[in-house]
Amino acid sequence: MNAPLAMAHASYPSLAGKRVVITGGGTGIGAAMTEAFAQQGAQVYFLDIAQEASARLAAQLRHLPLAPRFMHCDLLDLAQITACFEAIFKAVGPVDVLVNNAANDDRHALADVSPAYWDERMAVNLRHQFFCAQAVAPGMRANGGGAILNLGSISWHLALPKLALYMTAKAGIEGLTRGLARDLGPDRIRVNCIIPGAVRTPRQTELWHTPDEEARILAAQCLDQRVEPHDVAALALFLASANAARCTGRDYFVDAGWYGA
Ligand SMILES: NC(=O)c1ccc[n+]([C@@H]2O[C@H](COP(=O)([O-])OP(=O)(O)OC[C@H]3O[C@@H](n4cnc5c(N)ncnc54)[C@H](O)[C@@H]3O)[C@@H](O)[C@H]2O)c1
Repeated sequence: MNAPLAMAHASYPSLAGKRVVITGGGTGIGAAMTEAFAQQGAQVYFLDIAQEASARLAAQLRHLPLAPRFMHCDLLDLAQITACFEAIFKAVGPVDVLVNNAANDDRHALADVSPAYWDERMAVNLRHQFFCAQAVAPGMRANGGGAILNLGSISWHLALPKLALYMTAKAGIEGLTRGLARDLGPDRIRVNCIIPGAVRTPRQTELWHTPDEEARILAAQCLDQRVEPHDVAALALFLASANAARCTGRDYFVDAGWYGA
């Protein structure tokens, strides 16, 4: 289910007309970012496997001057990633902003993890972030710069249970962010990591957020208000905009000050 944006965002004139790719942009935080960037007048392409929800989001936003475009892409498959970016480059040229957002936080018990499951978890949570960045970098370089946002997670900062592989990948994303920021900095490509706290997405609400869990999260946060997908989108807009021109290689939390597990 796609929730409508519940907040009016600041306007960033520098984002109008920008070519923005958002992975996992069909539901949850990704959907809020798809909507928020499209409302800035950016041309958004969002890549997802959630066919129905993504098609629904595209239909909801088709009234916008530059309607976001959904591309079905399984990010586990590197050939599909290559094909999608080739199609985007052919249609609109180089990408200005890449938001590496797609992930999967399925829980797992240590004893159940096989080598194949390990590989699959790294592929769904980490590997595509590198290869999407690799795909957009030459065009950004030729264009004189760009912005890449990687979605990390507060989970490993808090040492949450039954998430060892997800947290390994998410810790890796902070290292990847620094590595890419260093290597791409000379080309004025900025790379930053957004670290959400406990965000009230449809999936989180459905799977994990019982009333007890809800109370526990609120008690552990400095603010007793839930973080919503549009709160994360607000940070993404700023970091992608020209107003963040000197921000790179860093992690930015949007977690209502969540310090306890
Ligand atoms: N929701 C939270 O509380 C929270 C907390 C910390 C970090 N994050 C991070 O924020 C980002 C967004 O989280 P979310 O809660 O909106 O996630 P979500 O699970 O609700 O949505 C993820 C999206 O990625 C897509 N996706 C998953 N696997 C894919 C694949 N193989 N190919 C293409 N698309 C795929 C899904 O279809 C979905 O649309 C993720 O990187 C997540 O790790 C979320």
